[in-house]
Amino acid sequence: MNTAVIILPTYNEVNNVTSLIHDIFNVTKQITTWNIQILVVDSSSPDGTAKEIVKLQKQYKQLHLLETPKEGLGKAYTRGFKYAVGKLNTDVVFEMDADHSHNPKEIPNFLSQIDQGSDFVIGSRYIPGGSIPQNWGIHRKIFSIVGNLIVRLGFMKFSITEWTNGYRAIKRWVIEKHMDDLENYTGYVFQVALIDNAIKSNARIREIPIHFIDRTKGVSKIDSIEYITQTLLYVFQHSSFIKFCIVGGIGFIVDFGISFLLIEIFTGSVVFATMVSAELAIISNFIFNNYWSFAYKKLEHGNESLLWSFIKFNLVASGSIVIQAYGMHLSTSWLGESYWYVYKVFIIVLIIIPYSYVLYNKLIWKDT
Ligand code: GDD
Ligand code: MN
Repeated sequence: MNTAVIILPTYNEVNNVTSLIHDIFNVTKQITTWNIQILVVDSSSPDGTAKEIVKLQKQYKQLHLLETPKEGLGKAYTRGFKYAVGKLNTDVVFEMDADHSHNPKEIPNFLSQIDQGSDFVIGSRYIPGGSIPQNWGIHRKIFSIVGNLIVRLGFMKFSITEWTNGYRAIKRWVIEKHMDDLENYTGYVFQVALIDNAIKSNARIREIPIHFIDRTKGVSKIDSIEYITQTLLYVFQHSSFIKFCIVGGIGFIVDFGISFLLIEIFTGSVVFATMVSAELAIISNFIFNNYWSFAYKKLEHGNESLLWSFIKFNLVASGSIVIQAYGMHLSTSWLGESYWYVYKVFIIVLIIIPYSYVLYNKLIWKDT
């Protein structure tokens, strides 16, 4: 029988964790096809959470306790993952809050998605059937919704609606593959990093709806300012889309700079200079995209497809020149030429950027 370990990170949850563990085992005793264990990872809570767990262990032999220093939620999870994989030899790990925000009744739904072939099941508050608490203040609602939206936009990954909530079931291979990277994220941003890593290794990700219940006992440990900064920084550093936009900007500078040199300094012909500078910009874009924006799926040197990919890249770039020229022709003939630069910006932002990004991902740096 396969094993699933439910990890409950705790920091001062003495008034929540005992009743939650009873609730979880009540639900899971009805599951016959999985061996379910609970691992509490307690970061030296001064309120005596760990002592409660030790008492409960007399009642439940499937209950484990890992005591760690206070180093943040991400660190607690990576330590818990290591223990679950190494010591408990688990096949699946669960993430779950220990403050009753996540209803244990959903556990069987997570497992049935795993049984059907998912590698990573996310409990989402933002798909039909899921919800955030009605009684949350407006700023907290906005914080949560906008936060998830920024991450989705930054990664240009709209199929995943929930990046932050920590109610998940994850197959062992995903954890093992990314353990080294995950150790870099000690705080709540760890949750975003875990999904980002899973996407990049093509894990089969599935969302199921959950209702998030506000805690009634104890207080939240989240440090909002730190969390927002770390999340924005993470997205900025790891988003292929943002890097792709920066590479486009570098391409523009290369194009413009070389044209300027050839025309103004070397008094070359405008047509010749334009051709040379455009191709050099294409080459620079190709290299930067390959070794930076899409480095995690980079095309290797010596591989025959590198040349072929470069040819396709040139074709996509030629396509964008044609689209831009046609767009400029249409817009200026409708609206006059006085504001041509405004139209150009609109065409680049609304058409060229999405067009190139989608085609690069579909034709050149493919996802699988
Ligand atoms: N071991 C350990 N160490 N546990 C911790 C730590 C820590 O440093 N910090 C927080 N926890 C535990 C809490 O005791 C709780 O069980 C769980 O992690 C969630 O923390 P809360 O303090 O309840 O934070 P929240 O409700 O604001 O967090 C929610 O939103 C986050 C970001 O959207 C949860 O859904 C988190 O899972 C989510 O990452
Ligand atoms: Mn909470």
